[in-house]
Amino acid sequence: MDIPILTDKIKQTLSTLQYGDKPVELYEPIRYIMALGGKRIRPLLVLLAAKMYDDDVENVLLPAAAVEVFHNFTLLHDDIMDKAPLRRGQQTVHEKWNANIAILSGDVMLVRAYQLLLGVAPDKLAQVLQNFSETAAQVCEGQQLDMNFEQREEVTIEEYIHMITLKTAVLVGFSLELGASLKGATAADADHLRQFGNNIGIAFQLRDDLLDVYGDKAKFGKQVGGDILSDKKTFLMLTALQQASQEQQRIIRQWRNQTNEAIAAEKVQAVTAVYDALNIRQQTEQQIEDYFQKALAHLDAVAVPGEKKATLRGLALQLMERDS
Ligand code: IPE
Ligand code: IPE
Ligand code: MG
Ligand code: MG
Ligand code: MG
Repeated sequence: MDIPILTDKIKQTLSTLQYGDKPVELYEPIRYIMALGGKRIRPLLVLLAAKMYDDDVENVLLPAAAVEVFHNFTLLHDDIMDKAPLRRGQQTVHEKWNANIAILSGDVMLVRAYQLLLGVAPDKLAQVLQNFSETAAQVCEGQQLDMNFEQREEVTIEEYIHMITLKTAVLVGFSLELGASLKGATAADADHLRQFGNNIGIAFQLRDDLLDVYGDKAKFGKQVGGDILSDKKTFLMLTALQQASQEQQRIIRQWRNQTNEAIAAEKVQAVTAVYDALNIRQQTEQQIEDYFQKALAHLDAVAVPGEKKATLRGLALQLMERDS
């Protein structure tokens, strides 16, 4: 019940943001990516965490918007690194314009995100900026590991989970901690909410990796098979490598570093066939469920009445089952 109302508030807030005017090449891509929509999950988590402690979330809207602007900045740069053609069903910024434009527009989005946080109450500002900065650095660390792993032959599942914790999960955790701490949650509650978010975030990235192989392009809004094409060491790939027969190992390894566009479809098909044979989809779904359960244990430990957690719990479940 809360979710559509809060999502509207977020959309409304985002629509009022002014990023700048000139040069238009710098600011137009920002308006473009922000107007393409997206699920707005992170600002929604900020508001839902805040709402557990105070019904009035007005003063949390700009900090929530800051997180969304930061997230969109990471997407601009991520799409360059991943050579992604599609985002939210449309051309990526570096394809529509070029990589330099995507880099610089992304840079200024990071700056604007910081400015949006400056309205936080003075007694909370330093801590918020510190946590946000630490989180942002971790996202960069995760993105670098993600790229390192593309080139590496052997990556363990543990290393993969560490990588996605950094690149994706910590921002989800930060969002929840931010909403709670701005509304005076105890340190213990804020910490449980952050850990709830971290585990939801891991499950969220696992789901993203699953959809990258098994999603419907129209709903997912991104290229399907992109992770296979760029030799990403996803949970799917690593689990397949662990369980593959010698012949299946050979098939997967023979496609490594094959980047020729002409054989892209064939590569995706061949690797997906190995995943299918090994039931990788079901195993990934199980892993998602495991992290969801870990997340719920932290939500349960938050010291507010159960009815105040229901919306958050429901949203988390939706995220685990999403197809977009
Ligand atoms: C995409 O994030 C990047 C990942 C961490 C998987 P989202 O799936 O939240 O993307 P939008 O904002 O809804 O488009
Ligand atoms: C991205 O992971 C995480 C960040 C943007 C920091 P992915 O590379 O899997 O995200 P998508 O699939 O492009 O959205
Ligand atoms: Mg990507
Ligand atoms: Mg990436
Ligand atoms: Mg992905």
